[in-house]
Amino acid sequence: MDEDERIWWGKNGNAIPQIKRFLSEVKSGRVPQTFWPYKEVGHTQEAKKEILEILDFVDSASVFSTPKPTRLIERILRIATDPDDIVLDFFAGSGTTAHAVLNLNKEDGGNRRFILVSNAEATGDQPEKNLCRDVCAERVRRESGGSFADIAARKMKRSRRLAGISPTFEPPPYRHTVCQRA
Ligand SMILES: C[S@@+](CC[C@H](N)C(=O)[O-])C[C@H]1O[C@@H](n2cnc3c(N)ncnc32)[C@H](O)[C@@H]1O
Repeated sequence: MDEDERIWWGKNGNAIPQIKRFLSEVKSGRVPQTFWPYKEVGHTQEAKKEILEILDFVDSASVFSTPKPTRLIERILRIATDPDDIVLDFFAGSGTTAHAVLNLNKEDGGNRRFILVSNAEATGDQPEKNLCRDVCAERVRRESGGSFADIAARKMKRSRRLAGISPTFEPPPYRHTVCQRA
């Protein structure tokens, strides 16, 4: 690579070597940068506002606390996916990834699909909480016009045994899998 002048050694030739990437080699015509300002990709407040525009919450404390803005995930998808890819998010939270996939498909006519996995976030104080069903799946349902399936599952006895969890222990909360149909 060095002979090909594809390594940057810094101005004086003694810096930590970096691989050169040329504009002609990146899909969007722009080399991805490591610093993404919020003006371009949003922030947590914007992400909360996005969810509030789609769903109603009992009070502001019950709004999901760590959502990502769809603009951020859209940028990642633009860089990392092709139009027919399947995107997996196994810590899906409020479902931003699915929302971003749907937005990007609309924008570029792609046929990306997604598989999301998340947990209910039920606790001793809120045993009935089901973030996955009430926020994640509901958001995806509204944004996609219902073209997906969601499945609830409990951790199986065998996996509990392998993880060394006592069989008499209160079972962990539901998890849901959401996947968009082709
Ligand atoms: C940082 S949040 C994801 C935020 C998401 N990107 C969004 O914008 O909404 C991580 C999510 O993963 C869930 N989670 C944590 N441990 C998990 C596990 N073992 N299996 C599935 N989901 C899990 C959390 O409950 C939380 O909802």
